[in-house]
Amino acid sequence: MITVFLLSSLITLKAQNISLFSTATKSEWYRHFLQPVVDAVKDSPAFPHMLDIGTGPGTLPEMVIAQDSTARITGIDIDAAMINEAKRRFTHKNVSFQHQKGNAPLPFDDQHFDIVTFCSVLFLLDDQTKDRLLKEALRIVKPTGKIIILTPSGKKPVLASFGEVGRFGSLIKNGTFPVWRIATSRGGRTWSREQWVKTFAAEHQLNYSATLTFHENALLEIVSKRKLKRA
Ligand SMILES: C[S@@+](CC[C@H](N)C(=O)[O-])C[C@H]1O[C@@H](n2cnc3c(N)ncnc32)[C@H](O)[C@@H]1O
Repeated sequence: MITVFLLSSLITLKAQNISLFSTATKSEWYRHFLQPVVDAVKDSPAFPHMLDIGTGPGTLPEMVIAQDSTARITGIDIDAAMINEAKRRFTHKNVSFQHQKGNAPLPFDDQHFDIVTFCSVLFLLDDQTKDRLLKEALRIVKPTGKIIILTPSGKKPVLASFGEVGRFGSLIKNGTFPVWRIATSRGGRTWSREQWVKTFAAEHQLNYSATLTFHENALLEIVSKRKLKRA
């Protein structure tokens, strides 16, 4: 039954040419995936100034501002369609979305942000792009700030994730979760194994913490220039 549903979901997604991600991010479960990042942002100074790199349809800025309306957030993405969707879905006086050109340096001053986030972004990119983006994040984050990276962990056996849909609500609303889990399995596993951010942090003498979140389906990594109060 579940398998039939998943297959028909995949076929429907393909037929309508809707990306898995675009559908998944609107599901209830996706907010559970992003929540640990919102919690990590809450643990920041008052009036945090945040940049969300690869913001997609802007779900994270929307969630952060719902928790802290004093935050000032910029979401950027190289996909102009995503930025248009983010602008259409969500407006708030403290949130702006802007299109980012491919390999161009990020258009922000040094030490401009308290928090820089990458959710489900870095693990999709090649080493050179990851390195460039993380160095840019380091340049624009304040000495007291932090860089938060959330990635599918690929840790849990795929079949176990089928049962987890029930944690988030109905299969109809959250059926994209197992599909996402399968689709991100390999990339997430490679990311967890390679410990790319940990190595980057060691090379640049940064503090680093890693926590499995979202019922071990995600890896939350935090990099900071100063000692963290809590991981
Ligand atoms: C899987 S989506 C995640 C979107 C969003 N962070 C979320 O979790 O809802 C990855 C996003 O990263 C964007 N992206 C990929 N490479 C990028 C880059 N070099 N700079 C900015 N955005 C990038 C893609 O266009 C896409 O919207």
